[in-house]
This record gives sequence, structure tokens and C-alpha cells, in this order.
Amino acid sequence: MFITVQQATTKDLETLYEIERECFTTEAFTKEQIAYLLKNPDAVSLVAQIDDENAGFIIGLTYRGNKARIGHIYTIDVAVKHRRKGIGLRLLNELEQIFVKKSIKICHLEVRIDNVAARELYHKQGYIEMRRLKDYYPVGIHGVQLKKKLEA
Ligand SMILES: CC(C)(COP(=O)(O)OP(=O)(O)OC[C@H]1O[C@@H](n2cnc3c(N)ncnc32)[C@H](O)[C@@H]1OP(=O)(O)O)[C@@H](O)C(=O)NCCC(=O)NCCS
Repeated sequence: MFITVQQATTKDLETLYEIERECFTTEAFTKEQIAYLLKNPDAVSLVAQIDDENAGFIIGLTYRGNKARIGHIYTIDVAVKHRRKGIGLRLLNELEQIFVKKSIKICHLEVRIDNVAARELYHKQGYIEMRRLKDYYPVGIHGVQLKKKLEA
């Protein structure tokens, strides 16, 4: 199995949207939102492929915080049939390396409190849970904010 990771473009929109819908129901990004992010100059969008097939993607945004630029992971999605093959970890690693090249020292994200797979993935990658976010998601689901200091 050979995983490659490259910058995602609007040519990937259809398959990224398919994967997004497979991963999320109520909280899925619309196709228009993904298209907007793919074109946003402050976003970093990466797609992982297995044998030329899009298998997962990650989208991060950068913005100016109080003291320095911050990296924010917006979404990370892996197609069901390609899970537990290391794609999620690989996408996180690659995104963090790009953030580091952009002199970003802090990366953060939010996740549903009941999303065991994602929380385990982030813990494994060194993210620390900072605080609970009450009713952050629809229908009263709480969230958790996580943060990682990035090292060059
Ligand atoms: C979360 C997600 C991206 C993980 O992707 P993945 O490619 O399957 O993850 P990896 O194979 O890189 O797993 C790395 C580690 O994460 C943890 N992990 C991943 N899936 C897990 C699961 N279902 N249960 C428990 N731990 C899990 C494990 O520690 C795993 O290491 P291991 O396989 O050696 O035990 C994937 O499950 C997914 O797309 N979920 C739906 C979308 C989503 O919830 N995104 C996060 C939004 S914040």
C-alpha cells in the first residue's frame, strides 16, 4: 500500500465532497463550502491518495492571533474503507509540517466529545485537550478544544 499526499485542488472537489458526506451527516460541509476552502489563500488543503484514488483529506486555515499566526484544523476525513491505514496520521503530519514552514507555532482544533476515533488520533499526534465547549455542536453535543505546540 502506497499513500501519497499532495495539495488538493478544485479538481478533487467531487471526491472530497463524497468523502465528507460519508464521514459526517448533520455537520458535513456543503460542496460550496469545500470549494470555497479549496480556493482560500489562507487555507492548506491536502488530499491523500492510495493507488491514485482519493482516500482522505485535511483542510487547515491560518490566521493572525494576538501574538502570532495560528493554525486551525478545520476538517480531517478518511473514507470508511481506508480507515486504520495511517492516513489520518499522515495527513496531520503533513499539514503540521506546512504550518511550521509558515512559521506557525500553535495548531488547534475542535472535536465532538463523542468522537472517540478522532480524539484518539489527536492524542496520538500530541494534541492536548484544553477545554470543553458546552453545546458547541447542534442538538446539545459538547465539543473539546485541543491544541499542539508545533516544533520546527
Ligand atoms: C478520525 C479519522 C480521520 C482517523 O483516520 P484514520 O486514517 O482511520 O486514522 P489512522 O489510521 O491514521 O489512525 C491513527 C491512530 O488514531 C487512533 N484511531 C483511529 N481510528 C480509531 C478508532 N476508530 N478508535 C480508536 N482509535 C482510533 C489510533 O490510535 C490509531 O492508531 P492505531 O491504528 O495504530 O491504533 C477517521 O476515523 C475519520 O475520517 N472519521 C470521520 C471524520 C471525523 O470524525 N473527523 C474528525 C473531525 S474533528
